Amino acid sequence: MKKIIRGGTVVTASDTYQADVLIDQEKVIAIGESLDAEGAEIIDAAHCYLFPGGIDPHTHLSMPFGGTMTSDDFTTGTIAAAFGGTTSILDFCLSSKGQTLQEAIGIWHEKSRGKAVIDYGFHLMIAEANDAILEELGSVVEHEGITSLKVFMAYKNVLQADDETLFKTLIRAKEIGALVQVHAENGDVIDYLTQKAIAAGHTEPIYHALTRPPEAEGEATGRAIALTALADAQLYVVHVSCAQAVQRIAEAREKGWNIYGETCPQYLVLDIHELERPDFAGAKYVWSPPLREAWHQETLWSALGSGILQTIGSDHCPFNFVGQKELGRDDFRKIPNGGPIIEDRFGILFSEGVHAGRISLNQFVDVTSTKAAKLFGLFPKKGTIAIGSDADIVIFDPKATRVVSANTHHMNVDYNPFEGIKLQGDVVSVLSRGNFVIRERQYVGSTGAGQYLHRKRFAKP
Ligand code: URP
Ligand code: ZN
Ligand code: ZN
Ligand code: ZN
Repeated sequence: MKKIIRGGTVVTASDTYQADVLIDQEKVIAIGESLDAEGAEIIDAAHCYLFPGGIDPHTHLSMPFGGTMTSDDFTTGTIAAAFGGTTSILDFCLSSKGQTLQEAIGIWHEKSRGKAVIDYGFHLMIAEANDAILEELGSVVEHEGITSLKVFMAYKNVLQADDETLFKTLIRAKEIGALVQVHAENGDVIDYLTQKAIAAGHTEPIYHALTRPPEAEGEATGRAIALTALADAQLYVVHVSCAQAVQRIAEAREKGWNIYGETCPQYLVLDIHELERPDFAGAKYVWSPPLREAWHQETLWSALGSGILQTIGSDHCPFNFVGQKELGRDDFRKIPNGGPIIEDRFGILFSEGVHAGRISLNQFVDVTSTKAAKLFGLFPKKGTIAIGSDADIVIFDPKATRVVSANTHHMNVDYNPFEGIKLQGDVVSVLSRGNFVIRERQYVGSTGAGQYLHRKRFAKP
């Protein structure tokens, strides 16, 4: 049966206009004023915005990390994402030395198959860049539709790769049409500062941040950019948290290089002093890069507004306080790094971005959906409301308000880092490929309805 969404205001990255949206099966088939609704189910969206479903380009579901496992799987994590207005996620498939890429990807398919309620794809971590791996990358792009490759410059002795690995990955990525992503922090410097802090008896959560200074992020960002220029390739810097990294990206883009950057809601609204909360509660705010002094926030907002940064990822990497964050009570190095953000990414950006006057409505759509679709080979199937596009649509009431709380969120985790923040605007209903996942704030989706996203090769947006 067809569906028609009536009376809403369609918002894309370029336009804002009132129109009906007609959906047949999974696709938008018509957009216009007073469309003929004969035989269609009528959905009233008066006084609401119709946004393209959010695309979260940075999640970690069911990921082993820090001696434990992230607490959301592909079902709980994607339900929470949908409640928050997200209809596609890109999750990081880890790999390790000695493993083939196909083995690593097979594990991620196992974790996710039949579990997601919205569409999902994978980025692939590159742990080593030997000849066999570099060769295999060709078929990963071709047959798996995985067109983004992640290299960690931090987490020494765990995930960190060296510059040779990064450089070879960049060269190969250029040949096969993939976008290289970096976690840009200088892992060697951080490792040394961490050892010194522990030797001096500093074990509290705040030392996680103090041993990962912003210049360690700026340096790694600049180094990754220089290697990208040398390889004439393309780079996407994930979770940019500070002015030092923004500056490196801005300079590179000024030169016309293919450098892109993502930031996250946590860096836009929270600061380093959260890690000083008493009774070890600072551990709830331990992730990498760490929260920064508050003045960095305005730099990040302005970089989003001016296009120096293009996307908002959640870096959703949830660990319960009880039993997981607590692993590091006596040693901040043992606090699993990450936070639960998938559900509030979209809402925080609307409230703190659009409502607070920092970005426009169209920029909001661009950073929460359209640019990610373009950079990661999903556009125009995803990332816009247009004839022929997937009917991934968020019906959003800008006049409603909600207060973020662990008592009401849907993430499988026992705290919310944004607890108590009042948000202007609220997700009312969410359609994924024409089917309701959230209807009038109730979950009506089905486990396994989410499809794997086979993505196109990188093309400059
Ligand atoms: O602390 C974080 N961000 N955990 C997830 C892994 C990563 O670095 O993105
Ligand atoms: Zn990272
Ligand atoms: Zn301060
Ligand atoms: Zn991450």
